Amino acid sequence: MSLQIKSFEEYQDAYKKSVEQPEEFWAGIAENFFWKRKWHTVLNWNFKEPNIKWFEGAKLNITENCLDRHIYQNGDKPAIIWEPNDPSEAHRVLSYKQLLHKVEQFANVLKNNNVKKGDRICIYLPMVPELVIATLACARIGAIHSVIFGGFSAQSIADRINDAKCKLVITSDGSFRGSKTIELKSIVDDALMQCQSVDRVIVLTRTRTAISMLKGRDVWWEDEIKKVETQGNPACPAEEMDAEDTLFILYTSGSTGKPKGVVHTTAGYMVYAGYTFSNVFQYQPDEVYFCTADIGWITGHSYIVYGPLSQGATSLMFEGVPTYPDAGRMWDIVAKHKVNILYTAPTAIRSLMAFGDEYVDNKDLSSIRKLGSVGEPINEEAWHWFNDKIGKGKAPIADTWWQTENGGILIAPMAGISPTIPGYAMSPLPGVQPALMDENGKEIEGNDVSGNLCIKFPWPGMLRTTYGDHERCRQTYFATYEDMYFTGDGCYRSPEGYYRITGRVDDVLNVSGHRIGTAEVENAINMHSDVVESAIVGYPHPVKGQGIYAYVIANHHHDDINQTRQDILQTVTRLIGAIAKPDIIQFVTDLPKTRSGKIMRRILRKIAEGETSSLGDTSTLLDPTVVEAIIEGSKEFK
Ligand code: WT7
Repeated sequence: MSLQIKSFEEYQDAYKKSVEQPEEFWAGIAENFFWKRKWHTVLNWNFKEPNIKWFEGAKLNITENCLDRHIYQNGDKPAIIWEPNDPSEAHRVLSYKQLLHKVEQFANVLKNNNVKKGDRICIYLPMVPELVIATLACARIGAIHSVIFGGFSAQSIADRINDAKCKLVITSDGSFRGSKTIELKSIVDDALMQCQSVDRVIVLTRTRTAISMLKGRDVWWEDEIKKVETQGNPACPAEEMDAEDTLFILYTSGSTGKPKGVVHTTAGYMVYAGYTFSNVFQYQPDEVYFCTADIGWITGHSYIVYGPLSQGATSLMFEGVPTYPDAGRMWDIVAKHKVNILYTAPTAIRSLMAFGDEYVDNKDLSSIRKLGSVGEPINEEAWHWFNDKIGKGKAPIADTWWQTENGGILIAPMAGISPTIPGYAMSPLPGVQPALMDENGKEIEGNDVSGNLCIKFPWPGMLRTTYGDHERCRQTYFATYEDMYFTGDGCYRSPEGYYRITGRVDDVLNVSGHRIGTAEVENAINMHSDVVESAIVGYPHPVKGQGIYAYVIANHHHDDINQTRQDILQTVTRLIGAIAKPDIIQFVTDLPKTRSGKIMRRILRKIAEGETSSLGDTSTLLDPTVVEAIIEGSKEFK
């Protein structure tokens, strides 16, 4: 069975088969990959424990699928095109042959540094080709990568390193983002003061910022490569992995506690990332594909690295930010590299829209054939601007809904094949069986209905566990509804049966497409010595999608409450990272609580949204007058 669907009829057939004969269906798709040994069982599962195993018995290495197998016919095809932060610096192109060579070299560096199969490796790098090389080098030798987005703080890095007991960190001296230089190595140094498990740090030169190099612990990337070169044999055979061996851990926020390490395994993830990439974007062999995500997020893992490379695609990665040197940068990149497929986020679209059409009108976007959106619901205005200004009304938009836990896209149109409606992710991909659930745990059948979105059957790319805490995985995703994977999203199914994601139904915020847990931000704010208590809610934000609204009870130590505000922001930046900084901090003297002491976030959410006339039932509050005071105080921010 061929991997790529070519028409709507083929989609319908594939969907039907995937539901009626899921094992035959996925075995047929898996035939399109390179296996050292085939599976004996396609699927073994229950959602109770949960226990999910795909392609059991198979042996493979994902890097052979992403690199080696393309060499024979496509060795000189660009695998990675890298566009630097500063447009006056030269861009880089790595062919499949060159990328394989560099991955093998660096895999040998890892081996020289005593990395073994199953070891956890933390990668904290800017968006440079070496990030892809490091990631694939881990996979080459069976080490488990844990990539951390370059915007996270030392404390966040330490938490993640300690959770996974990483033994080695790969970082750079610094990173360039727009006009700023960020001192990554120094952030890592701070983190490592709390980490016992790390005995080696490999440091890539990028910014030439002065850094400290600790004897016995820190080594330079470039020196280590030279050592490998003098050792003679640059090749590094791919480690033979079991289908269900862990490929990577990626941390993501939930509604409670610290971020959890989502675990993805080798075979199912590979098949799913490759299949969905090929189909959603309808990738053709000559196309240049540009995903604007950072590899520190799942979108980058699946749709910059593993999905595109497994399909022999040309994947463009960009080091910088869309507004540097000006708000036309993305369109300059599209014109310069003749990008055919552009996959980006609503928050980026809204931010660029706000700069005005003069940054896009004079750009050559004629290469664009297909567009994609991911990360949050796309509002109609942004959809139309994307469609009209960027796609010139001719490029189909795939609004792709999925999550870190999913490994790949679950609900989306296939570009140019499926119908599209602004704001709709449309239909499930083959293999995906959505269900809308009501409050009583019953599935809502039929159309023109809304409910909590669940998936009732496993797909190959789904998470297997949360690292070191399987019970947390069960609790979070498989305990709310019996025999269902619960997504945490609300969803509407239209009269025609199309899906529209309406946003999170739990205490998880989506700020500029970044997932942030309210509890996490509250914990950080509460660490500030002047803070007594706090409550975080989301509110509609014109560019970020959701903004972070903080209600804080504080003892003002300064005369100037703005100073306290700045101190709180600094605390959050230190503990989590700048992405989690509240947009609004309202100081309050009390929070609305029930008699049992639970904060009524529903009311706080309404106030943050400015909908104070529809607060609903406040009779269960311990002290209803608290609400009046908070409403009064909120006027300052409207
Ligand atoms: C949450 C997952 C994997 C994509 C990047 C974010 C929201 C994601 C859409 C979309 C509406 C979307 C959901 C989801 N979301 N894509 N196309 N339409 N909402 O991954 O950080 O794991 O966040 O992002 O609320 O649950 P993530």
